[in-house]
Amino acid sequence: MVRSSLLAASILAGSNSALAALQTCGQSQYDPAQYVCWSNEFLCPIKAGEPLSYCAGACYSKFMYTCPPATNTLSLLPTVPQGTPFRLSASNPSDAYLHGLPVSATGLTIWIGGSTTSYCPVAQVGDACPTGNTTSFVSYEGYMSMNVMVPGGQAAYLNPNSRIAYTQAHSAYIPEGSQRTGFAAYQGGGLVNLNGGGWGWAACPSTASGPGGSYWSLVARNETNAKGLAEWNCREVNLKVEVLGQNVRDYGAWQYS
Ligand SMILES: *[C@@H]1O[C@H](CO)[C@@H](O)[C@H](O)[C@H]1NC(C)=O
Ligand SMILES: *[C@@H]1O[C@H](CO)[C@@H](O)[C@H](O)[C@H]1NC(C)=O
Repeated sequence: MVRSSLLAASILAGSNSALAALQTCGQSQYDPAQYVCWSNEFLCPIKAGEPLSYCAGACYSKFMYTCPPATNTLSLLPTVPQGTPFRLSASNPSDAYLHGLPVSATGLTIWIGGSTTSYCPVAQVGDACPTGNTTSFVSYEGYMSMNVMVPGGQAAYLNPNSRIAYTQAHSAYIPEGSQRTGFAAYQGGGLVNLNGGGWGWAACPSTASGPGGSYWSLVARNETNAKGLAEWNCREVNLKVEVLGQNVRDYGAWQYS
């Protein structure tokens, strides 16, 4: 008995020092690095550096939902209309290095950071060649494509490694085990991947197999890979949507390469 109460006392002493960093939210204590307290009453977790907002009993991400004060009910943001191009950038306010990096197309794969690689047959297309130095997309009913001029387009998909990839120009080839649908681009919000339970996105440090340098791998997290990604030093990010011109179809590139 004596031994076990001594043990309990030392555990308490140990947790007391941890408690120093805790804050109070109504009746509960919380770690401000992991939670945010709303109205001194409701705790919401911080995900990918985003303190989740609170709406009538639910915590929500502003990358997908809104809570209009008039109704105080959770509603999905509107999706980007069909044919309206948008760009993506990484968002994680608690990671100054990743926060704001553009999403870029290189080597038929989508990355965070780095630069865009594209091609235009100038001899045929001439002045109509888009600048081709930024990466943009279009999305409709769960599908996503590259915002390109090349006939046939370039479809985007989630490959079997949970990376976003896109088809080569003039080819419809998509590897077996890929997922074509499950993407949703929200206006004023983010790109959400609903495949595998909607676990969000991770940015992983560059590896020898990628372009290296300032490129981070963009991976869709899911129940199976989440733990491994954390062990690889991947960091959770949201993908912020920036809607481009609504009226003129402003192509990102002739084709991404
Ligand atoms: C793309 O090219 C245009 C025209 O040369 C330039 O103004 C713009 O800054 C470039 N953007 C990027 C992201 O490199
Ligand atoms: C999760 O992603 C991995 C690749 O990172 C893939 O092998 C696995 O099938 C995916 N699991 C689910 C449930 O989608």
